[in-house]
Amino acid sequence: MKHPVRFAVAMQLIAGLAVLMVIAVVPTVVLYPLALAGLQGTAAAVLSWLIGMPSWWWWIGGGFVPMAYLLADLGISPSYWLAGFVLLALVFWRTDTSRVPLYMSNSMTVEALSGLLPHQSIKFIDLGCGDGRLLRQLARLRPDCLFVGYEHAPLTWAWARLFGFGLKNLDIRYGSFWAHSLASYDVIYAFLSPAPMPKLWIKALEEMPPRALLISNSFPVPGVRARQTHAVSDKRRTILYCYAVGGTT
Ligand SMILES: C[S@@+](CC[C@H](N)C(=O)[O-])C[C@H]1O[C@@H](n2cnc3c(N)ncnc32)[C@H](O)[C@@H]1O
Repeated sequence: MKHPVRFAVAMQLIAGLAVLMVIAVVPTVVLYPLALAGLQGTAAAVLSWLIGMPSWWWWIGGGFVPMAYLLADLGISPSYWLAGFVLLALVFWRTDTSRVPLYMSNSMTVEALSGLLPHQSIKFIDLGCGDGRLLRQLARLRPDCLFVGYEHAPLTWAWARLFGFGLKNLDIRYGSFWAHSLASYDVIYAFLSPAPMPKLWIKALEEMPPRALLISNSFPVPGVRARQTHAVSDKRRTILYCYAVGGTT
């Protein structure tokens, strides 16, 4: 499903129509707004399930209107909700289209990753560097290498810039990594989601130099055999998938 948010909105609209039909048939039901909110949520959840949306969308669709109704009763100023929304938007940015939320590589993964880096001086890029923690740790471990990070979420980018200040071998850039060529990098690191992996592989095939390595945290490229996989002994059992161009099966 390419645009789940659009589908989620459509499910709410259809559920809303169903609720209006119930009101038309049984007008006294308006005396029970919480029941109507529950009905709207149930209809949205069932519709999300029927059209095959992933299960977390059933919960989001089902809970949205009842929660909005209950929270409205708390009398919290709308400006707080707006501020919360803006804050989340600045961190999660266009997750609806990128399908890549924010979660961080843990320190054991950083350690494992540093062990996979070539011994000579290299240029490394993190596609979607989040708060830049991974790059800062690597930049300190390997002062002989250059670490570049692209981030499109304004607040996380600002954070990465601010906390990376002073590290000479760290370069945090604002913008989408899709618009940036991979041609000059030796190691390309991605911790994204399953959704962009086929497109990322096409980009890698077009731009990655033959000597370079693409390392994907947790998400393999579908239909492509990794040159090497590396299991990290962390709690979430992270797997690092390493690809070189020409590795297609
Ligand atoms: C799962 S986080 C990984 C963060 C970091 N690389 C790490 O491993 O700790 C993915 C990040 O990629 C960012 N992102 C997603 N699509 C992007 C794009 N097209 N250009 C730049 N950043 C992107 C998200 O905003 C998010 O911060």
